[in-house]
Amino acid sequence: MENIAITKHFNNLVKEQIERNERIKNQSHKTDFSKKDKIVIGLVNGDGIGPIIVNEAKRVIDKLLKNDIEKGKIEIKEISGLTIENRIKLNKSVPDNVLLELKSCDVILKGPTTTPHGGTLESANVTLRRELDLFANVRPVKIPEKNIDWTFFRENSEGEYVLGSKGIDITPDMAIDFKITTVAGTRRIAKAAFDYAKNNGKKRVAIVTKANIIKHTDGMFSSVCHEVAQEYPEIEVSDWYVDIMAANLINKSIRNSFEVFLLPNLYGDIITDEAAQVQGGVGTAGSANIGERYAMFEAIHGSAPRMIEEGLGEYANPESILRALVMLLEHILYTDKAKALQNAIIKAEEISNMTGEKGGNTAKEFTDNLLKFI
Ligand code: IPM
Ligand code: MG
Repeated sequence: MENIAITKHFNNLVKEQIERNERIKNQSHKTDFSKKDKIVIGLVNGDGIGPIIVNEAKRVIDKLLKNDIEKGKIEIKEISGLTIENRIKLNKSVPDNVLLELKSCDVILKGPTTTPHGGTLESANVTLRRELDLFANVRPVKIPEKNIDWTFFRENSEGEYVLGSKGIDITPDMAIDFKITTVAGTRRIAKAAFDYAKNNGKKRVAIVTKANIIKHTDGMFSSVCHEVAQEYPEIEVSDWYVDIMAANLINKSIRNSFEVFLLPNLYGDIITDEAAQVQGGVGTAGSANIGERYAMFEAIHGSAPRMIEEGLGEYANPESILRALVMLLEHILYTDKAKALQNAIIKAEEISNMTGEKGGNTAKEFTDNLLKFI
């Protein structure tokens, strides 16, 4: 790229980000589920094993929410077209009509979507997090028998992700990417984490950055989190670098002491996969993407194209998306239903053998086991 083109590209990015920052600062609309007559739940299949596990989630929803669906209090909207084939064909990470339909929902349960390596087609997740302004990525990891009860608050709209597809190849042998942090963007995720801690009897929040090296963006993230922490004097705050936190999670003598984690986007991405693995694998964890207006719930794992290629799709574990469904139910204030499903998942887990391979249980068998308990 010519120098002048690089400068122009960079100036445009800065301008876009200044505008985004203004939008966050002026944000207002918040959905109050206690006041809604009708809640629309969107269901999106996604790619690979997505349609298989979302179909199982649908069976659970149909049984669990039967009465409210019949009464019209809950509407289920199945939204198609968010497939890698369609996205490549239209060269749109989220096709316009799909986005429009998603925006007519209050909450969304989404299967994993494939993201191509390289190129310019952005990850559908990243687009949706941005378009629906889903700034808080909340990921619980619980292992009661090991006394582990972690909740991760990953910032979901900034950091390396926001311009991940807009870096520059300066020359054929040199490339630059960008990372962005704003005070408003950090403040809202920090508030979400501290509010959660306060409302759920948690005593500790761990802030995770690499502020010794990534000084400006991570430095701002850390200092804004500390500023917000002052409004919660009853909560103990600690600071960690992401490398040692990666070690802490597998350090049995220290890991039980952590409760709530507060992390910028990319570190949150990496650390939450590690945490899910500690819990039993990425197939076991759910993930909530929460904004003021919309919220989207999904499995923490990807679309597992290899399972499909090897003909093992039906052995995919639907547990992660079902845990996401638990979070969705909590979010819309269906607390009893959420608890009922959570318990049924634990019971189904005990009597199922999910190996991801022939010989183990299929997704359908897992759900059949689970449906006995609700
Ligand atoms: C996640 C996933 C996504 C991410 C991918 C699918 C874009 O890994 O939700 O953690 O990197 O955030
Ligand atoms: Mg991830």
